[in-house]
Amino acid sequence: MSEKKTLEEIRGIAQKKLMGICGVYKICDGDSMRICQGQSYGKPLRFGGIGTGTSFYNNVDALKRYKLKMRLIGEHFEADTTYNFFGNKLSMPIMGASVAGVNSFGGNEVITEKEFCRAVVLGCKEAGTVGWRGDTYTYSLDNTYGIDAISEANGWGVKIVKPREQDTIIKFYQKAEKIGCIAVGIDIDGCGSFAMSSHGKPVFRKSFNDIKQLVASTNLPVIIKGVMCLEDALAAVKAGASAIVISNHGGRVLDHTPGTASVLMDIASKVKDKVRVFVDGGIRTGYDVLKVLALGAEAVLIGRDIVRAAVGGGIEGVCIHMQYLQKTLAKAMKMTNCRNLNEISSEILLYNI
Ligand SMILES: Cc1cc2nc3c(=O)[nH]c(=O)nc-3n(C[C@H](O)[C@H](O)[C@H](O)COP(=O)(O)O)c2cc1C
Repeated sequence: MSEKKTLEEIRGIAQKKLMGICGVYKICDGDSMRICQGQSYGKPLRFGGIGTGTSFYNNVDALKRYKLKMRLIGEHFEADTTYNFFGNKLSMPIMGASVAGVNSFGGNEVITEKEFCRAVVLGCKEAGTVGWRGDTYTYSLDNTYGIDAISEANGWGVKIVKPREQDTIIKFYQKAEKIGCIAVGIDIDGCGSFAMSSHGKPVFRKSFNDIKQLVASTNLPVIIKGVMCLEDALAAVKAGASAIVISNHGGRVLDHTPGTASVLMDIASKVKDKVRVFVDGGIRTGYDVLKVLALGAEAVLIGRDIVRAAVGGGIEGVCIHMQYLQKTLAKAMKMTNCRNLNEISSEILLYNI
């Protein structure tokens, strides 16, 4: 049997394979000097942020403004990071984000879409958590890479569909339901998708009634991803959504949005007793995870780092990456006096000091 790779080795392989596309830097923040940036001057979006990259940058910057209050005098404990996700016990409140379209930034030499989906779904499962799957212009009702991978994992996954025509979304949901997916959803911010619009696949803003129709179309919990304001959060709740994801799509759909950590607390405090609140954007370590849980999210999604892990190490790479995140979260919880997820609150945060 071959030796288990280290996270550093996996990232080293990804760095070689993603040469010219992603620097696999120690800090992934959308800074204008990073090789992924430059769309406002004609570079393709690939792995970067839209336009000037400000939304991407703001995600990381917003997290940086929060500091952790170290609190150590008290009984010894090892933190319990287990999390209940729609009735399923996960090892951590950290999941693989619904990223799709690896062909658009590397082609099949880097990783095929099929292998990428398998890596995320099966790698997350091996680490005791869940891989979400996305949607892009290469996907169709006959080409459902994400759903196929979730099917291979016996339904252990979440399928997010772009805001296509209602009928098409509902057909995707029916397929997901048939294979026993845990939940489905829609990335409402995908109506700003560069990849879809530039390949002649129409995407739409969705009305309140559209969301209601989607919720009514399936027995699965429906997740609304791409919420950045209280108005949308309240509309999602009213339409019957089971969860929302506070997300700006990793800064890829609208330039000059705030970082997700900046809007999270205000939104979560008003809706978290009515709907599950997840968040993503710039979350790279368990320390970041702890910060957003303290701001009111109940779980998080990991985007770009999951791509790098999948490119560098496939299923094993994703599993090792998720295990690393679980370990740093457990460490951060121990050092801030949080025995389990319920004990995490904004008390452990210090802002802008
Ligand atoms: C290359 C790429 C492709 C993405 N494709 C999708 C997608 O198909 N559906 C979706 O809901 N989100 C998509 N996202 C957004 C992610 O799900 C997630 O919101 C974001 O990556 C989180 O930010 P992070 O990359 O800084 O962790 C994509 C992100 C990237 C970087």
